[in-house]
Amino acid sequence: MLGSPITSPRPLIDDLLGRVAWDDARVIVEYGPGVGDFTHEILRRMNPEAQLVIIETNDEFVQFLREWLPDPRLHIVHGSAVQVGPLLQQLGCKQADYVISGIPFSTMPAVLRERILAATCSVLQPRGAFLAYQYSRRVSPSLNKVFGQVHRNFRLLGFLPVWLFHCRP
Ligand SMILES: C[S@@+](CC[C@H](N)C(=O)[O-])C[C@H]1O[C@@H](n2cnc3c(N)ncnc32)[C@H](O)[C@@H]1O
Repeated sequence: MLGSPITSPRPLIDDLLGRVAWDDARVIVEYGPGVGDFTHEILRRMNPEAQLVIIETNDEFVQFLREWLPDPRLHIVHGSAVQVGPLLQQLGCKQADYVISGIPFSTMPAVLRERILAATCSVLQPRGAFLAYQYSRRVSPSLNKVFGQVHRNFRLLGFLPVWLFHCRP
């Protein structure tokens, strides 16, 4: 169900979240929180006035997160990342400072992948960033097509290869 071989190890969480300017970020979106390893840490680091919107397709994870993380700054949405634009509008958020993603772009159809990435780019404020980790670099060409800047880093977590992407509109 997770679309990944493991839950997220601590070095991966620290590496990706280390790229966020926590003092300034007011609207943060997370795609595919799963069992909430990133969500929990985002809530710990983010400003008391910031809001976190998490979007998850799996109903069981949504129920679990609603019980586990009752934080007034957290909006838990049962839906797909492709709906991020209308979902943010419904919540009264015009744009996002950061979108953080753990969804498996490499295993979804290319059309859906590019729709999600285009929707993501369009909700980011001009100095905002899309931060994603992937266990394959297959998403790279789609990121290059959609975003103005794409930086990638490779990490080995034990024997597991992970790519970290840091993209700007
Ligand atoms: C690799 S897991 C995420 C693990 C999570 N980051 C953690 O540390 O526990 C991927 C998650 O993305 C969700 N997902 C897959 N496609 C999605 C989509 N289009 N929109 C939102 N969530 C999606 C899956 O249900 C799954 O929970």
